[in-house]
Amino acid sequence: MKIAIASDHAGFKVKEKLKKFLTRMGYEIKDFGTFSEESCDYPDFAIKVAEAVVNRKAENGILICGTGIGMSIAANKVKGIRAAVCWNEETAKLSRKHNNANILCLGARMLNIDEIERIVKAWLSTNFEGGRHEKRISKIHAYEI
Ligand code: RB5
Repeated sequence: MKIAIASDHAGFKVKEKLKKFLTRMGYEIKDFGTFSEESCDYPDFAIKVAEAVVNRKAENGILICGTGIGMSIAANKVKGIRAAVCWNEETAKLSRKHNNANILCLGARMLNIDEIERIVKAWLSTNFEGGRHEKRISKIHAYEI
């Protein structure tokens, strides 16, 4: 399975650690940056991973910034993206089972690397439950009001 990954400067170190962790788990990684701790803007990276997931260049995406929030706001602007900020194994599993999240957003300044690895593992090993959740997901659209 291929995973698209990206971070801003706040998430850079976590991204580098996660790449090693995921490679050890047997996943193929496509890294969309950033490539240093130099200050940068998270939307520039969120869009790259969102594009890769929507165009099926990767099955799933992982985005890391300070809180995970900016990345999720930006990625969720892309049609077909369901980006979820998860902060423990429970929210990671539920974001898959109920929301069929295709991008996991993580807060590098909110969690330690052990927590992050556990969240990533839980997220990748959980599947969408379908059923009543299918109908709900089909009601998620972009609106101009
Ligand atoms: C960068 O300082 C920080 O604002 C960013 O990483 C992220 O947390 C935004 O949501």
